[in-house]
Amino acid sequence: MIQANFPVVKAALVGAGRMGRHHARTWAKNVPGARLAGVVDARLAAAEALAAEFGAEAFDSVEALLAAHPDLAVATVATPTIYHTAAALPLLRRGIGVLIEKPLAPSAAEARVLAEVAARHGATLQVGHVERYNPAVRALVAQKLKPRHLEAVRTSPMTFRSLDVSVIMDMGIHDLDILLALAGAPVVKVEAHGQSVVSQSTDHCSAWLTFANGVRAHLTSSRLALTTTRTLKLFADDAFAHLDYGTKAGAVYRMKNHAGPLAGVQARLANNEDLSAEKYADMLQAEVLDIAPYAGCDQLTAQATAFLDAVLNKTTPVVTAQDGINAIVAAEMIAAAISANR
Ligand SMILES: NC(=O)c1ccc[n+]([C@@H]2O[C@H](COP(=O)([O-])OP(=O)(O)OC[C@H]3O[C@@H](n4cnc5c(N)ncnc54)[C@H](O)[C@@H]3O)[C@@H](O)[C@H]2O)c1
Repeated sequence: MIQANFPVVKAALVGAGRMGRHHARTWAKNVPGARLAGVVDARLAAAEALAAEFGAEAFDSVEALLAAHPDLAVATVATPTIYHTAAALPLLRRGIGVLIEKPLAPSAAEARVLAEVAARHGATLQVGHVERYNPAVRALVAQKLKPRHLEAVRTSPMTFRSLDVSVIMDMGIHDLDILLALAGAPVVKVEAHGQSVVSQSTDHCSAWLTFANGVRAHLTSSRLALTTTRTLKLFADDAFAHLDYGTKAGAVYRMKNHAGPLAGVQARLANNEDLSAEKYADMLQAEVLDIAPYAGCDQLTAQATAFLDAVLNKTTPVVTAQDGINAIVAAEMIAAAISANR
């Protein structure tokens, strides 16, 4: 935890767009121990508007920010992904802790450069895989289930945003990070199908992943859907669990709680009994996940608070640069599999 004896440190935001607004508010109002000192945007007017709203100074470059605030402690980078590296490198080279929005970079090669520069300058680098801070995910992880198979679905109608990267890098990257964390092993094999319909890159993707420990997963990522869906299913030998990232609800069904009813049903089926009047749902014992929201704070605040804590106490952040690289490597394997299938 952030200790009371740390002085309040200066934070900055780079990229005053849609996500940047949330990050600016988070640093300015929600994180104890930090204050928003500067807002940078290539469009100075955008930086000025956001800085005025949150009592900070506006800059049109990271260099100008650093000249005015050499004692900056932390920064969040929320530019479009293709500009993450250029925005973050000058900060990391000064040893400043940087929280970079997902995906860490547009390619694994660029992400490795960021990780290497951060390590060389002793700068904390965390990736904004904010679903790690989703209370539903945390409740599922706490169950310590051993997955054999995972299914992640993330679809939305086309927003015409973030088209600088594929749907795998924009939306699927959230799920790849969670799948990698739950599987606990790297992806070794991918089969995938994808389509580009609106943008120049993949807008819809369906992928089968095999992890090094034999766990398998299916991933659906689409920005061409009519409805928004964000769900995860986990199949273990002894349990099934599901969660909804959006509603933050989920449940676990354990085999041990169903052994008796299952045996009864199987015996009746073996006797050729007609069970069509039975209510399947009534036979199930759902253990509703105990999903406690963060006390008085949202996922971005939980993420920024944990990041600042890692910077000040010099500890490993929850989502490391290596985690960000691993997710991009998996995304690149999917992209390669899609290309091979075209
Ligand atoms: N965590 C999430 O759930 C989530 C959701 C949406 C977007 N994102 C990520 O957030 C980032 C930003 O997305 P957005 O939708 O806010 O984009 P946006 O286009 O709304 O905003 C980006 C801003 O960055 C500015 N900018 C561009 N290049 C710059 C540079 N070199 N230096 C400084 N400013 C620059 C632009 O002028 C713009 O104001 C992306 O990496 C995206 O993947 C994350």
